[in-house]
Amino acid sequence: MGPEQNIILEGRGVSRYFGALAALSGIDFSLYEGEILGLIGPNGSGKTTLFNVIVGVCRPSEGKVFFEGRDISGMSPHRICQMGIAKTSQIVQPFTRMTVAENVLVGAMYGGGLPQKEAWEKTREILAFVNLDKVMNTPSGKISIPERRRLELARALATSAKVILLDENMAGLNPNEIEEALDLLRAIRERGVTLMVVEHIMRAVMGISDRMIVFNYGEKIAEGTPREVAENPSVIRAYLGDKYA
Ligand SMILES: Nc1ncnc2c1ncn2[C@@H]1O[C@H](COP(=O)(O)OP(=O)(O)OP(=O)(O)O)[C@@H](O)[C@H]1O
Ligand SMILES: [Mg+2]
Repeated sequence: MGPEQNIILEGRGVSRYFGALAALSGIDFSLYEGEILGLIGPNGSGKTTLFNVIVGVCRPSEGKVFFEGRDISGMSPHRICQMGIAKTSQIVQPFTRMTVAENVLVGAMYGGGLPQKEAWEKTREILAFVNLDKVMNTPSGKISIPERRRLELARALATSAKVILLDENMAGLNPNEIEEALDLLRAIRERGVTLMVVEHIMRAVMGISDRMIVFNYGEKIAEGTPREVAENPSVIRAYLGDKYA
């Protein structure tokens, strides 16, 4: 990334302890406007915790997070959402009795702060964009897994987020569905949204990321292009150790 690139989101020395466990240790990261940054690491390495710290669900024990140059550490999730950061959850948790459209409307009204009429217009536009317009009146508990994944993205988009954090949004998808999901992420980037993507499906995250960072036991062990990261001995060790130890 050249110096002409703007940093939209930045973490400096971010640590988070749960009792004696360091879920995150002194993490520095920069997210450049317009990029897709992949975040990988073995189970329990701190990926979800970092996302929770960024969106204010979890306070950092040490360190700071800056969004567009402003210190957002310790702000409420509501405030951070309104400033322009949204997260999709690792566990899909839409309000299952509400329809697909109502779920997206909540994002538009809550995060986007739009009045009802504008929020409905935005909801319709986004449902068409993520190809959920045909199921818009279906209770969200009754749609398929790939549709639920797209609903999570739709809710994030409805908040007018500038940055969307995706936590394993492709889990449970078959290879064709993964290809479609990757196309959708590229289309979201075309809308001007910056993406940070946590994903265990290596082919998917390597294929879509401009840059990647790698966590192991709460520490950042590598950073670079997908190719650099894939060839990094510490990364290979972390993954092989995790699998074969
Ligand atoms: N609320 C919590 N209380 C106590 N420990 C926690 C809490 N949240 C996370 N942890 C611990 O922090 C560590 C990091 O967890 P985290 O969920 O961030 O990992 P992850 O990289 O997202 O893993 P996965 O790939 O399995 O989703 C783990 O050891 C986890 O058990
Ligand atoms: Mg996780």
